[in-house]
Amino acid sequence: MIKQSPLIVMMERAARRAARGLLRDFGEVENLQVSRKGPADFVSQADLKAEKVLREELEKARPEFGFLMEESGATKVGDGRHRWIVDPLDGTSNFLHGLPHFAISVAAERDGELIAGVVYEPLRDETYWAEKGIGAYLNQRRLRVSARRHLREALIATGVPFLGHGDAASHARYLVEFGKVMECVAGIRRWGTASLDLAFVAAGRFDGFWEHNLGPWDMAAGIVIVREAGGFVTDIAGGHNMLKSGGILAANDHLHAPLLQLLKQPGTA
Ligand code: IPD
Ligand code: CA
Ligand code: CA
Repeated sequence: MIKQSPLIVMMERAARRAARGLLRDFGEVENLQVSRKGPADFVSQADLKAEKVLREELEKARPEFGFLMEESGATKVGDGRHRWIVDPLDGTSNFLHGLPHFAISVAAERDGELIAGVVYEPLRDETYWAEKGIGAYLNQRRLRVSARRHLREALIATGVPFLGHGDAASHARYLVEFGKVMECVAGIRRWGTASLDLAFVAAGRFDGFWEHNLGPWDMAAGIVIVREAGGFVTDIAGGHNMLKSGGILAANDHLHAPLLQLLKQPGTA
């Protein structure tokens, strides 16, 4: 049985505490679908409450850490070396529509390097976690990226731009990319929770994942998990500027290069 480090133990504990409220609120969301006002305000409150719980738990355990949290932005610098990067509710649109696919994402960064990640899926009570040099796990099970070598066998996840997410030029560029990938692979999936898309690459369920315009909180934990599962992660240009550029391509070691090549078509770099 793998023994989690104190860092991972406390990250998972914080995520589980925040998940209790999300689970209660998700039950309520189904009832609100039929109300005239809809569940939008209720869901943003659920999001804020989860962020508050995470912040309190993480701060109590590691007061020296700074924060980058989706809802409140960068609100604390801390010792300047350590930082939490947190998405209290990833998959908000799914949550809002009563679709059972969302997660809490918590990453730890030290001196600008991602060192640990936890992606917790409340509805399945599943924790994807990884620590630099220790490996990636789903609860107690070691994770490995898939071994598929050919794009024609690959199932690739993506995120489709939407209203307010990227400009018209980036939407057009995405359609070119989508067309190129679509022609070469066994299937494309859009599940709407980037942290879980990455966790699923680590688990070998998806063979790759790409998306533009993500926030650091969408991908930080997932990046550590994919890397520790033996996968490759870059930005869309093949560099390592994922958190700043907002673009990400994660895949197993055989498929990363061919996918990058497809995404690098003229006008898509
Ligand atoms: C979103 C999800 C989604 C991705 C969006 C993100 P949110 O995060 O990760 O999969 O396509 O780009 O903004 O808003 O649900 O936390
Ligand atoms: Ca998110
Ligand atoms: Ca979110």
